[in-house]
Amino acid sequence: MPLLLSGKPVAEAVQARAKSAIDAFRKKTGRAPALATVLVGDDPASAIYVRKKGEMCARLGLGHRDFRLPASAKQAELEKLIRELNADAAIDGILVQKPLPKQLDGQAVFDLLDPAKDVDCFSPHNAGLLAQGRARLLPCTPAGVMEILRHYKIAVEGKTALVIGRSDIVGKPMAVLLTLANATVTVAHSKTRDLAEHVALADIVVAAMGKNRFLKGSLAWKKGCVVIDVGMHRGSVGSLAASSGGKLSGDVDFDTVAPKVAAITPVPGGVGPMTIAMLMANTVRAAFVRQGFLLENSSL
Ligand code: GUN
Repeated sequence: MPLLLSGKPVAEAVQARAKSAIDAFRKKTGRAPALATVLVGDDPASAIYVRKKGEMCARLGLGHRDFRLPASAKQAELEKLIRELNADAAIDGILVQKPLPKQLDGQAVFDLLDPAKDVDCFSPHNAGLLAQGRARLLPCTPAGVMEILRHYKIAVEGKTALVIGRSDIVGKPMAVLLTLANATVTVAHSKTRDLAEHVALADIVVAAMGKNRFLKGSLAWKKGCVVIDVGMHRGSVGSLAASSGGKLSGDVDFDTVAPKVAAITPVPGGVGPMTIAMLMANTVRAAFVRQGFLLENSSL
């Protein structure tokens, strides 16, 4: 069987580093760094994610302010809240939970977000800095994947990496981070003609296309391949299935792929725990940068 790349010890290490930076920040400034979460509407899965983010803030000693707007919220209402949070000196990071209700223009909201507080790295300013290799805030899930690769000492430089999926949240920034780490990167997507041909050449495969158990063991996997599964699919009865006992699965058909590869992240327990850990690290990072403090730990 392959090496199982559990995200748990990696997330714990990131959280421990974040916690000591939070303590140092509090000593210097007399206050804790603070994250504002904005949840619009009542999507139950989003409500769970926001609650978990709040719980992790409490565990690490980060401040957390929880803002909620009704599902019927107007664009102007949400933008007014974002302007207030941008202007609030006691808020270091702002997270607007996706997906937003259909009547709202999410891009306009992320265009408005102060880039210094954009802990998701969704604003065009931060996406541009990332592409130029000058980012201060990294997109949480792709940064979490890089942290897993680092933790398990999986070399990236010179390797062929295949990113499947080209979303703004995962696929695109993942391809950028792997390129910056000197991998030779291919991005595959729904219009890719022969996915199997690309899988066969890949030393590292990042599955982020959002299709339940799509990648099968019957593909020709390259010897020594490392598989990172960003997918998250909940049972069969809607998005609350996980909390009511439904099984989670990823974009990779774990049972058939695992015997064919050298290392693989499980779902749950692989990439999942990293996203919140990286969000905490980004919030601390944003707080340090906004205060003009040097980051003592560049790997925060
Ligand atoms: N919805 C699903 N994933 C994310 C994420 O990483 N950040 C935000 N803001 N919303 C999400």
